[in-house]
This record gives sequence, C-alpha cells and structure tokens, in this order.
Amino acid sequence: MKIDLSLIGMEKGRQYETIITTKNAQNVYNAAPIGVICSGPDRTVSRIFKGSHTLENIINTKEFVVNITHEPEIFTLSTLGNLSRDYFNDDLSLKCAEAYFRCEVISLTEAVKQSDPVKKKDEAIVIKSEVTDMTIIKNTKALNRGFSYVVESLANLTRFDMVDDDQKEIYLSQFKEAYRVVRKVGTKDDLKAMGEIKKELKSKGYDL
Ligand SMILES: Cc1cc2nc3c(=O)[nH]c(=O)nc-3n(C[C@H](O)[C@H](O)[C@H](O)COP(=O)(O)O)c2cc1C
Repeated sequence: MKIDLSLIGMEKGRQYETIITTKNAQNVYNAAPIGVICSGPDRTVSRIFKGSHTLENIINTKEFVVNITHEPEIFTLSTLGNLSRDYFNDDLSLKCAEAYFRCEVISLTEAVKQSDPVKKKDEAIVIKSEVTDMTIIKNTKALNRGFSYVVESLANLTRFDMVDDDQKEIYLSQFKEAYRVVRKVGTKDDLKAMGEIKKELKSKGYDL
C-alpha cells in the first residue's frame, strides 16, 4: 500500500504516542510505548533513552515496527513490563494494532533536547528512520496527547471561577503544563484551542 503517514493522521513536525515493537538476536519480541515524530510522509524521528530493550534492539537490528493502538491496557502492560508473545503477530506487529508501519534506521545520533525536563547529556539516542511498509487495518488516527490536554484544560476552565485561590494555583500550574505539552506535541488545532484558553485566562487577569 502507499506509504504516507498522513493517511493515519500524522502531521509533519508533530509527535504521536505509539507502541514500538522490536526483537532481539534471540528472537524475543518486545513492545514499549514510544513517541514518534512525523518528519515527512515516509520519515520519522524518535528519541529513546539508553537502557531500554527497545533502543538496544533497534541498535542491533536497525529496524522496528510502529503500532497505532488506543488500548490503555497495551500502553500500561508494555510500560510496566513486556507484552507476552500472544499479543504479537509473527511479523512483529501487534494483534490489536489499528495500523502499523515498518521502519528502517537512517541514522542514530547521541542527543539531548533542551526543552525536555530530562536534560542529562548522552542519555538518549535520536533515531531517524524511513518507513518501508505500511498497513492500515481500520480507519484510525495516531494518538496525540495534545487533544487530551485541551479537554482537561477546558474542564478546569469551567471550574476556575468556582474554586478558591489554592485550587486556582493548582489549575494554573496544570494549564502551564498543558500549554507546554501542546506546544511540543499538539496538532495545529490543539494549539489554536490552547491559545483561546490562554486568552480567556488573560481576560480573567491570569497570564500563562
Ligand atoms: C506514552 C509514553 C510515551 C513514551 N515515550 C518514550 C520515548 O519517546 N522515548 C523513551 O525513551 N521512552 C518513552 N517512554 C518510556 C518507555 O516506554 C519505557 O521506558 C519502557 O519501559 C521501555 O521499555 P523497554 O525496555 O521494553 O524498551 C514512553 C512511555 C509512555 C507511557
């Protein structure tokens, strides 16, 4: 099928939360949630911290599969441990994937991103890759954290005038964090929405 990440809603320059699956030399399959930035119709960039099985496997095999799923159980199990082999197809994709694409590594570079809360040098590797194969099982959009932050911020905004100053401070720090994340990973529409929320707070006398 045609390789074009926009077919699964991935915008250039934006980051999506996916499950990356890899295997090691002993053919043990591994899954972990990893943020994948779309850098072109058939290009991705990820930053993976040292010490993970995912990074070790990618360094060794120079390939990986990016799975699109919205199942909380899959994100949780693969963060806290590993998925059992039953969750995988033989081709390394996940059985629950709504879409998946195979990537081949173009480059691996030591890096640290200044905007990130984790700033230790030499702790992560930036992986640039080419998408070599893409499968869409059902119509889906890759998961972006931006929209959840917009909805959460709107919910807090509706309560803002009803709460005391201490709770307002809590909401303000949550708005700030939401704004930071949306600026970093959100879509154009998420950014526009957060801009409106920012304006509304300003009209109440609060600057983010
Ligand atoms: C939503 C989400 C996104 C994540 N994104 C990344 C990422 O981009 N890079 C990274 O190194 N770790 C990321 N993590 C953390 C890894 O998934 C976690 O360290 C995992 O345990 C690594 O598993 P592994 O050792 O099987 O590779 C993310 C976790 C979650 C829940």
